[in-house]
Amino acid sequence: MTQRVIEMPNLGMGTFRLEGKTAYDSVKMALEVGFRHIDTAQIYGNEQQVGQAIKDSNIPRDELFITTKVWNNKLNKSDFIASVKESLNKLQLDSVDLLLIHWPAPSNDEPMSEYLTELLTAKQLGLTKHIGVSNFTIANLKAAMQTLDAREIFTNQIEVHPYLTNTKLRAFCQQHDIHVTAYMPFVVGKVLSDETIIDIANKHGASPAQVVIAWENANGMTTIPSSTKRKNLEDNFNDKAVKLDEEDIARIDALDCGDRQATPDFAPQWDQ
Ligand SMILES: NC(=O)c1ccc[n+]([C@@H]2O[C@H](COP(=O)([O-])OP(=O)(O)OC[C@H]3O[C@@H](n4cnc5c(N)ncnc54)[C@H](OP(=O)(O)O)[C@@H]3O)[C@@H](O)[C@H]2O)c1
Repeated sequence: MTQRVIEMPNLGMGTFRLEGKTAYDSVKMALEVGFRHIDTAQIYGNEQQVGQAIKDSNIPRDELFITTKVWNNKLNKSDFIASVKESLNKLQLDSVDLLLIHWPAPSNDEPMSEYLTELLTAKQLGLTKHIGVSNFTIANLKAAMQTLDAREIFTNQIEVHPYLTNTKLRAFCQQHDIHVTAYMPFVVGKVLSDETIIDIANKHGASPAQVVIAWENANGMTTIPSSTKRKNLEDNFNDKAVKLDEEDIARIDALDCGDRQATPDFAPQWDQ
């Protein structure tokens, strides 16, 4: 199958846990450093600061790729579109580039067919260029495809890093040409002190963060690390020189130990 062309930069900046001035300053710095892809969400409570940093950067809108996500309590038909308009208002944007369902609702909550229909409506209304999902398992994706053509699902944003390679789900996404966006690539910093990662970094004269980003990209994924420090943002953005060989990739793949970070009580039954 021909892989679809993805016009989303394969490195973005994540903004989970970034609040108030820290969120504003971090996004502003990221844009100054060269990032053009920013990932936020309604639940992060920072769309306002992200929007202000984008505005103050004076970067032309068409050079940016902005993602937000609809939170669990806005999946119902009466709140969905209004919540997206509220996000756009906070972001000071007419539309986002990508709108995601943040988590699949448990089956006894909002029916998936209804909120995916709302998601498609958001696209048809021009509130977003692309639509996608996050934290969807294989079973969730199969159910989603009952409502949405797989071609409509721009990405599945899921946890993928050297300690959780999520290969089964990634293979299913690849089979259906659904691009994978890897979140928490650094295991919130933990994997950057891993001996194997440091060893490979030393071999390439690179930083551990650059090695992890290179591994995500070498596996065809987009990734969205977050940072609040200019030095780290520069380090992450300048990953392009790192070319991992097959042995490096195999050594990193072998670090998988199922160390999942995102495990809220409403999470779906994960693929093993
Ligand atoms: N869809 C979902 O359900 C979901 C769930 C979780 C996360 N996400 C997205 O994924 C993004 C990334 O995940 P995350 O922010 O939780 O964790 P992460 O990106 O794996 O790790 C962030 C941590 O790494 C540190 N760091 C960043 N660059 C570094 C560098 N070059 N050298 C050393 N340390 C570095 C940061 O510290 P400093 O700030 O000090 O640089 C921060 O503590 C989120 O921000 C969010 O946008 C999505």
